[in-house]
Amino acid sequence: MKRDLRPVGIVGTGSYAPARVLTNFDLEKMVDTSDEWIRTRTGIVERRIADPDVATSDLSLAAARPALESAGVEAADLDLIVVATVTPDTFFPCTASLLQQALGATRAAAFDILVGCTGFVYGLAAAAALLATETYDRALVIGAETLSKITDWQDRSSCVLFGDAAGAAVVAPVAEGCGILAHSLGNDGSNADALKIPAGGSRLPASQETVADRLHYLTMNGPEVFKFAVRVMTESSEEAVSRAGLSMSDIDIVIPHQANLRIIDAAAKRLNIPYEHFVRNLDRYGNTSAASIPLALDEAVRDGRVRPGSHLLFSSFGAGLSWAAMVLRW
Ligand code: ACO
Repeated sequence: MKRDLRPVGIVGTGSYAPARVLTNFDLEKMVDTSDEWIRTRTGIVERRIADPDVATSDLSLAAARPALESAGVEAADLDLIVVATVTPDTFFPCTASLLQQALGATRAAAFDILVGCTGFVYGLAAAAALLATETYDRALVIGAETLSKITDWQDRSSCVLFGDAAGAAVVAPVAEGCGILAHSLGNDGSNADALKIPAGGSRLPASQETVADRLHYLTMNGPEVFKFAVRVMTESSEEAVSRAGLSMSDIDIVIPHQANLRIIDAAAKRLNIPYEHFVRNLDRYGNTSAASIPLALDEAVRDGRVRPGSHLLFSSFGAGLSWAAMVLRW
């Protein structure tokens, strides 16, 4: 963030995950896998699954309410709602629009961001820019997913990874020296096929054939995404920290995208940040894509790990393939 813009930061957080738990042992009964394989290869033990009649805007609403409460902001005072998701309720209207109505945020402009697991950090960067330039005063940024609805429950290589959740942050002006200090956003479209839903868009519209061929589910080249993730988490984190005028030793808490414990492990080693500084909750939630960072952030805020003055690093990667890192002073 340039010095002549007003400082902007996160002033309240909230999160929500559905009550239903799907364990690795449950998955053993669904596909040819084992608790041992999933735990040792990913670190995931269980994940939450939304009921069939629950959509992403419902999870968003449940995360938004505690975020607004902790910020002391009324929904009617919001100027902007941004929802990052790859599982919108519908292609359009956007999920942010449905959330605006559900919250009664009548003054707020609303739009979605569809960049996958990096979406929350992209959303924060976009909202922060609109607030820093004094276009708006208060924004609600959400990362929310019902990935269970786009998961191919017959594909053991991907279905063991994902879960449903939502996380929310209220963004507003903060004291000088605090808030979002810098970010590093990027994308490499040359590897776009590594992570996608093949059908249902304008390239391959929905048809009986696309449904029969299971092309409306998420497909992924796991090892390709793994290699990419370790590289870009390191590079983008270094860039964001350097743009903030800090060094890695200044970072108190890292909130990485919760995709795989081995990816977090490798990033910690390369960044030379002690492993204990990394917030990890993927054992309980799996990969919740855009929800993963705000969900982990809310936990760390509420249990007191994040304190006034803490330097935070968000580090994410995802579809695109994209990356997004951000440094904040709480
Ligand atoms: N249970 C048992 N065996 C399995 C399973 C499973 N659930 N899944 C794959 N295997 C097998 C494979 O068939 C393979 O067997 P083979 O050697 O006989 O061919 C073996 O395990 C190894 O498979 P790999 O894919 O090489 O396993 P790897 O160690 O790479 O782990 C994983 C796979 C966990 C997917 C890893 O690559 C990964 O985490 N990648 C990153 C994924 C990610 O972060 N995605 C984020 C995107 S999410 C989003 O945007 C919504």
